Amino acid sequence: MDKGLIDRAVGTKPLLRVLAGQRESVPPVWMMRQAGRYLPEYRALREKAGGFLDLCFNPELAAEVTLQPVRRFGFDAAILFSDILVVPLALGRKVEFLVGEGPKLEPMPDADALTGLRDSIDEKVVAPVYDTVRRVKADLGVKTTLIGFCGAPWTVATYMVAGEATPDQAPARLFAYRDPENFARLIDTLVQASIVYLVGQLKAGAECVQIFDTWAGVLGPEQFERWCIAPTQKIVEGVRKQVPGARIIGFPRGVGAMALPYVEMTGVDAIGIDWTFEREIARDTLQPRAAVQGNVDPLALLAGGAALDREVDDVLEKLSGGPLIFNLGHGILPPTPIAHVERMLKRVRG
Ligand code: CP3
Repeated sequence: MDKGLIDRAVGTKPLLRVLAGQRESVPPVWMMRQAGRYLPEYRALREKAGGFLDLCFNPELAAEVTLQPVRRFGFDAAILFSDILVVPLALGRKVEFLVGEGPKLEPMPDADALTGLRDSIDEKVVAPVYDTVRRVKADLGVKTTLIGFCGAPWTVATYMVAGEATPDQAPARLFAYRDPENFARLIDTLVQASIVYLVGQLKAGAECVQIFDTWAGVLGPEQFERWCIAPTQKIVEGVRKQVPGARIIGFPRGVGAMALPYVEMTGVDAIGIDWTFEREIARDTLQPRAAVQGNVDPLALLAGGAALDREVDDVLEKLSGGPLIFNLGHGILPPTPIAHVERMLKRVRG
């Protein structure tokens, strides 16, 4: 994708305008995990596809699932349907998704396990993902932005080390304390893989990318700088070297006061904030430097009614004076009623 193409698209797409630093009177809206189990059409197609990874690697079905929420709700963005754990898979690790249990990988508790890791991603594994991007792009309206993504190296590493989701990411934190040199090797491999993977998505037609650092919030400030900020900064720089002007959203969940150094040091165009983030602080410290994305509590969306209305109004009141991408503070929860999503959208769009 050349710079001219990006510039021409900015004009018609509210989300790209916000990423360029503009304020929109009605902010663009999308939701993290907008393609997923709360939608009956997703559940039906998922059943047809077989396993979750079969769906991720089937371009025709993955494109369809990506477009489902955009068709239903008219979101301002489509996010590629895939998963952050595609990268470890493309680095030669075993990754499975067990129904009701989430991801299972072969754990990498120490440096010995790193020997089985490829040093660059297997292009054959990720080729169907790029194909999905191309298909979605061809079907997308002129106002809708296509978002690609990857997991941040730290968050991906937490799953690779533990082999599964853990409450506090203790296995990865322990590895990093006990053997920082080898942990840095793992992180560096993920940085290089992420650059290749994001550039591949941008070249296939993604118009911006989001880096999901779901587990950033479990690290102390020094560790956060080393394992989250520095690798993300390298990814931003590496991607923009190959795709000048590439627009990038960072989502370092749960980092509180470290959000400002994250924005300043990584160079992201927008920062996703979770629902615990004080909105006035986001307005005063983050918005002058980057667009802000967020931050309705997914549980308020699940609850609906007055609690949801209050949450939506508060986001708009505090953050719509600057560049804002309206979103949740984390992914939508599977039991969320569709009517609540409709109610939220109506309130945002007036
Ligand atoms: O709509 C979208 O947001 C795009 C698709 C997307 C998925 N996962 C689909 C998915 C995206 C952007 C992700 C990112 C992702 N994956 C993250 C970072 C964001 C976050 O939510 O924190 C993480 C940590 C993962 C890893 C992962 N994938 C876990 C822990 C799980 C199991 C938990 C769960 O929600 O089931 C998944 C599975 C997954 N990824 C599903 C979906 C729709 C559910 C699978 C199913 O259909 O059964």
